[in-house]
Amino acid sequence: MVKKTVSIFQKLKNSGEKIAMLTAYDYSTAQILEMTDIDGILVGDSLAQVVLGYENTYSVSMEEMLVFVKAVSRGAKNSFIVGDMPFMSYNTSLEQGLENAGKMIQAGASAVKLEGCNEYILKLVRRCVESGIPVLGHLGFTPQLLNTIGGYKIQGKSADATEKILESAKKLEEAGIFAIVLELMPAQSADYITKNLQIPTIGIGAGAGCSGQIVVIDDILGKFTDFTPKFVKQYANLHGIIYNAAGRYLSEVKEGIFPSEEQSFELDTEEREKLNVVKQN
Ligand code: KIV
Repeated sequence: MVKKTVSIFQKLKNSGEKIAMLTAYDYSTAQILEMTDIDGILVGDSLAQVVLGYENTYSVSMEEMLVFVKAVSRGAKNSFIVGDMPFMSYNTSLEQGLENAGKMIQAGASAVKLEGCNEYILKLVRRCVESGIPVLGHLGFTPQLLNTIGGYKIQGKSADATEKILESAKKLEEAGIFAIVLELMPAQSADYITKNLQIPTIGIGAGAGCSGQIVVIDDILGKFTDFTPKFVKQYANLHGIIYNAAGRYLSEVKEGIFPSEEQSFELDTEEREKLNVVKQN
């Protein structure tokens, strides 16, 4: 398999083929995603909630993110992996942002994702791109601004608000991002933004008009069940599968059914005789 690069995003958009991205946080899931030939994997800071059990994404650190980026990049060596820059890992200075973006690449990511758009973010995007670090933008609902936004609120709900998001997206495009995540907005707003950009849009809760889609893998697998947003479609029920399997294991251990001979190692007859022990099971 040939390693996927940033160039596939624009190629897919230009050809009209939809881009499919998923998040992943661990080695074995990354291996499975690579086998599916998924267009891109995001090691999202959503792992703060679905893997680490925090209430929101504020609590995950740069150091923690790097552990997960390394695990995913070991499992999906030929995939296009985006490392999500966590809260405060790029906000204190351009130097800090650039250095941490570099750490993501050194950990195995092919690109980084930054939330929002202001003069500072635009400068940082330019610095990253000049340094050879592709950047995925993120507008609409941006979880790292949860406290400012005041909750999980749909963005771009009016023509004016949609135009403002488009204006920001255009500035980010101009600064050099290769694609942009549009989160939680009316389908028509995302469609309008998509039609007015050259770069691809990757929607999450933003309807079918985007150039592609991304979802949190634990949501579509039905593994994370603390809350399920309206835009999630469950393709499996891992919660139920794990619950049933763990329950069966529990009763088999209690009943002495597990482990059986099949899962055990036996002493040779001669050695058994020396210890005066009998064959088990
Ligand atoms: O952290 C994340 O998983 C994300 C995606 C949902 C876009 O930012």
